[in-house]
Amino acid sequence: MFQYQLNHRFFAQVPEGIEELAAEELAELGAERVRIVFRGVYFDAGQAELYRVNYGARLSTRILAPLLTFRCHNPDYLYRKAKEIAWENFFSPHQTFAVFANVTESKIHHSRYAALRLKDGVVDSFRERLNRRPSVEKIDPHVRIGLYIERDNATISLDTSGGSLHRRGYREAGGEAPMQEIIAAAVLRLSGWDGSQPLYDPLCGSGTLLSEALMTYCRIPGAYLRKRFGFQCLPDYDEALWTSVKQEMDLAMRPLPEALISGSDRSEKAVHSAGRNLGELPWGERVSLRVADFRTLQGLQNRVIVCNPPYGIRLERNKDLSGLYRDLGDFLKHQCKGSAAFVYFGNREWIAHVGLKPSWKKVLRSGRLDGRLVKYEIY
Ligand SMILES: C[S@@+](CC[C@H](N)C(=O)[O-])C[C@H]1O[C@@H](n2cnc3c(N)ncnc32)[C@H](O)[C@@H]1O
Repeated sequence: MFQYQLNHRFFAQVPEGIEELAAEELAELGAERVRIVFRGVYFDAGQAELYRVNYGARLSTRILAPLLTFRCHNPDYLYRKAKEIAWENFFSPHQTFAVFANVTESKIHHSRYAALRLKDGVVDSFRERLNRRPSVEKIDPHVRIGLYIERDNATISLDTSGGSLHRRGYREAGGEAPMQEIIAAAVLRLSGWDGSQPLYDPLCGSGTLLSEALMTYCRIPGAYLRKRFGFQCLPDYDEALWTSVKQEMDLAMRPLPEALISGSDRSEKAVHSAGRNLGELPWGERVSLRVADFRTLQGLQNRVIVCNPPYGIRLERNKDLSGLYRDLGDFLKHQCKGSAAFVYFGNREWIAHVGLKPSWKKVLRSGRLDGRLVKYEIY
């Protein structure tokens, strides 16, 4: 028996800063005994809840099923433990796999080398048992194996998501600086938008906030477009149960009312790619889009405004964006009365240039970006 089969405990990897939101979402999807740690959430789940969490989560990066935890002080011991696992329970030698490792405060301190020893253990386990070995495939492997070593405590896990869940499958066309999907989903959740007011993104780029808003309102599961999940490789995978979980969640979806979600951008190319991305999702064609400079927009009263303006790191490097942020403040003040605006700043130095008093600011990091989400209430 593997560890997750004995204790039904799983681990969700979560971007830094949104652990609590992610834990809340996991609990809504049926996870029990959630425990928040730095960049993650432990939780209990049966098979049905594991499938539901993988299918529905928008705020977790991946869900790991721990196979084995042990004290580990050197790479050879890691190799021997990896070799002891009967990997043929998860995949066959003609399928491919990849190992991703993370090591902190341990005697083994090179995560690359740790990953390599784990890989050798997997390969030799197959060789000795079946006389054949699977190949490593980095980009799109059949099975992803995780290794986490913290203070010499090693855990070998299987990625039950089958690749990061931020890959929703709708991003056909990347814009210039698209927002990470999980961050966009977190912005939506922190905004508290429930569909009772229309939502507008005046700098929509390739439409990530609009797509996540559509998925949130219509209850489209985060992994709706995903073809294959890692949990399908688990020895106790129950196909009929997965079909019924999926059916139940698909039946809970609801259509998008016309004019509830709209957006614009001054770049024609960006609006075109937003249209294509939204078109991948159910009811995406009901999101209205147009090409417009936000400075020319009028009459956006009593809405929820969300946006992610250029921040000068990847886009418009070295450019002075203070005028743009001042204009954004004026636009919100004069054209968006009665609205709540949620602006995601990839670079917090621009917050002061908006010239409006924030109701709150929240830290929302995304990769290298030390971002902030700022709420403005416009009277
Ligand atoms: C950081 S990107 C937004 C990315 C978007 N959230 C996404 O996920 O693709 C900023 C966007 O602001 C747009 N933009 C810049 N100045 C604008 C203006 N004055 N009016 C409207 N859009 C503008 C750019 O064309 C760009 O698409």
